[in-house]
Amino acid sequence: MVTIPFLKNNLLSIDIGFRNIKIVEVEVNRNKEIFIKNFGIASTPKGSIKNGAIQDVRAVTNEISKVLKEIGVKTKNAKIVMSGTNIISRVFLVENIPGENLDNTVRMTISQSMPIDLDAHKIDYKVLKEIKDDGVPKVKVFVTAVLKNIIKSYIDILVELGLKPISVDIPANSAAKFFNRDIITTESDTWFKRNKYSKLDQSTLAVIDFGSETTIVNILKDRVLEFNKVILKGSSNIDEAIAESNHVKLDEAERLKKIQGLTPLDLSFDEEQVKIHNSIKGVINEIVRQIFQCFEFYEKRCFGDKVGKVYIIGGGSQLKGLTSYLESVLQVPVYHVGLLSIAGIRINEGLDSDRLNYLINSVGITLS
Ligand SMILES: Nc1ncnc2c1ncn2[C@@H]1O[C@H](COP(=O)(O)OP(=O)(O)OP(=O)(O)O)[C@@H](O)[C@H]1O
Ligand SMILES: [Mg+2]
Repeated sequence: MVTIPFLKNNLLSIDIGFRNIKIVEVEVNRNKEIFIKNFGIASTPKGSIKNGAIQDVRAVTNEISKVLKEIGVKTKNAKIVMSGTNIISRVFLVENIPGENLDNTVRMTISQSMPIDLDAHKIDYKVLKEIKDDGVPKVKVFVTAVLKNIIKSYIDILVELGLKPISVDIPANSAAKFFNRDIITTESDTWFKRNKYSKLDQSTLAVIDFGSETTIVNILKDRVLEFNKVILKGSSNIDEAIAESNHVKLDEAERLKKIQGLTPLDLSFDEEQVKIHNSIKGVINEIVRQIFQCFEFYEKRCFGDKVGKVYIIGGGSQLKGLTSYLESVLQVPVYHVGLLSIAGIRINEGLDSDRLNYLINSVGITLS
């Protein structure tokens, strides 16, 4: 009998954040199941990313190289997720003119309503829905535009590392791919929240990535990405606020943030802790205000529905008490998602499971 070799595709995936670079090596099998062989996290060299582009390619590749050696990566095929800043995305309703190429119609619409240089940007669009508007056939499209020279700076990194570039993706795409799969939440959580929020329509959901400098809001309708916006505030702003209110250095402020988080205050808290609490809350409230604006914009200007569920990811989502705080202000169920929460992912035993949480975006783009 002849056994057919089990086709496996090895892939390296790199997610470049302002604070951390997440590197993961996966094996994708024929059933699209993912096996995480290896991973490593590098610190992003300070100042190496400016306006979404890699400013200092050498510094970044040095850090990545070190990690690749440490974890012993053999794969050459690589995908990369770029920083979230400077990606423009919009939803348009365009007329679907018979005989007219939709590409042209979309480009035309963009040139009329987005203040960007069409030649300098790489434009991608996805048809979300075909509708009739007063009898006129129209299509709802989701458009993203990224400066070509920004994309090039990410390809440069892969080339410099001697890797074979497969793709450069935006974080929204990796989140969308990840959340296209079935999410498994813990039993008690699910039971309680399912009851409490049973009346909400949860087919429109938000995936919010709490990063260090940015907070990325993605809205998915029936698992398709329909909205994306990068809020230029993140977990590092909390460190700054604590450093100022409590007169401590940034490292210490970050440590205090992680220890205390947003757990509700009681009488046993001392003055220092109250200051920390207020600093954290101040920044989170500002981020929440902008999240609300996104939800509102999506409903009113992108022809969307009410968000009925929120998933939170990213290093900053580990802030203690954040899930319940967000739930109380947004009035929808909020789930903190780990890598183990989706179907079809296996993980090499012996990998440090505490840090697997960071890998959602890097693993996301390896999914199809
Ligand atoms: N337990 C914790 N509580 C609160 N914050 C945390 C915790 N652990 C990590 N963080 C914060 O998470 C941030 C790093 O997260 P992450 O790696 O997702 O950011 P990044 O992807 O590099 O940034 P960006 O997405 O903005 O480019 C840091 O600001 C760190 O302080
Ligand atoms: Mg990030």
